[in-house]
Amino acid sequence: METIRDAVKRGIRLIDTARAYTRPGEESTAEALVARALRGASGPDALVATKGGHWREGDQFPVDGRPATLRAHCEASLRILDRDQIDLFYLHHVDPRVPLEESVAALSEMRRAGLIRHVGLSNVTVDQLDRASRVAKISAVQNRLSLGHPDGVEIAWDCARRGVVFMAYSPLGGAGAKPPQTVSGIAARIGVSTAQVQLAWLRVAAPGVVPIIGATRSATVLDSVRASELELSRADLAELARSVHHAKPLTE
Ligand SMILES: NC(=O)c1ccc[n+]([C@@H]2O[C@H](COP(=O)([O-])OP(=O)(O)OC[C@H]3O[C@@H](n4cnc5c(N)ncnc54)[C@H](OP(=O)(O)O)[C@@H]3O)[C@@H](O)[C@H]2O)c1
Repeated sequence: METIRDAVKRGIRLIDTARAYTRPGEESTAEALVARALRGASGPDALVATKGGHWREGDQFPVDGRPATLRAHCEASLRILDRDQIDLFYLHHVDPRVPLEESVAALSEMRRAGLIRHVGLSNVTVDQLDRASRVAKISAVQNRLSLGHPDGVEIAWDCARRGVVFMAYSPLGGAGAKPPQTVSGIAARIGVSTAQVQLAWLRVAAPGVVPIIGATRSATVLDSVRASELELSRADLAELARSVHHAKPLTE
């Protein structure tokens, strides 16, 4: 909770959570923790993004994208987050049993009703974003993207062209991930952390990428905030691009 408050104090303006982020046996749900932390936070209000249609049951992660389920999840999130409106509400995963258009229409209806301000999609393909965009205004896409998992670059560029914000989740490769060797070399040479190099690369991987960083300590929050001042040289970016295993070019 202190880490969230500290992050807000240091200028972080978006807190990302989800119904699915509560681990079994945890006393408080992830959303309740965010609500409590933000109640006691000082500084300007942070935006809160959460997600529905996906949750955790023991080791299982069910998906249910039916309109009634999404509406129920949204209403529960509003209650738990103690807000009149959710700033950004994502369809966490496309439900293969429900036409995507139906799930997205439900989110669009929630926006019209004022329950949510923006509609988002998570874990989608370019084709799914295209289909969803014919049903509703999609404000944000949240997919995995990091130097170690660069496949999200294609949809990040697609988002940039459409004016959709691309949020990169697991931007450091996830908890416990080792930075790629090239990153460690560059970080050591220029005297910054490996996280800063990875975050600075994300800023140029596609225009307007927003990293969603899973820091649990104030020290790592502070380190990541510093990445906003780091500009990698053309030579370093070229070295990183060469090290990435990706079929498509990383810049256009
Ligand atoms: N939409 C989806 O399906 C989906 C899926 C997965 C994740 N997400 C979102 O993405 C967020 C981040 O993903 P993630 O936690 O998997 O991956 P991540 O942000 O790539 O990695 C988190 C790990 O990085 C460490 N870290 C953070 N900043 C650091 C820094 N400056 N220096 C060194 N280590 C640093 C954290 O350590 P400390 O704990 O020590 O700070 C933690 O172990 C999640 O919290 C969630 O909101 C979304």
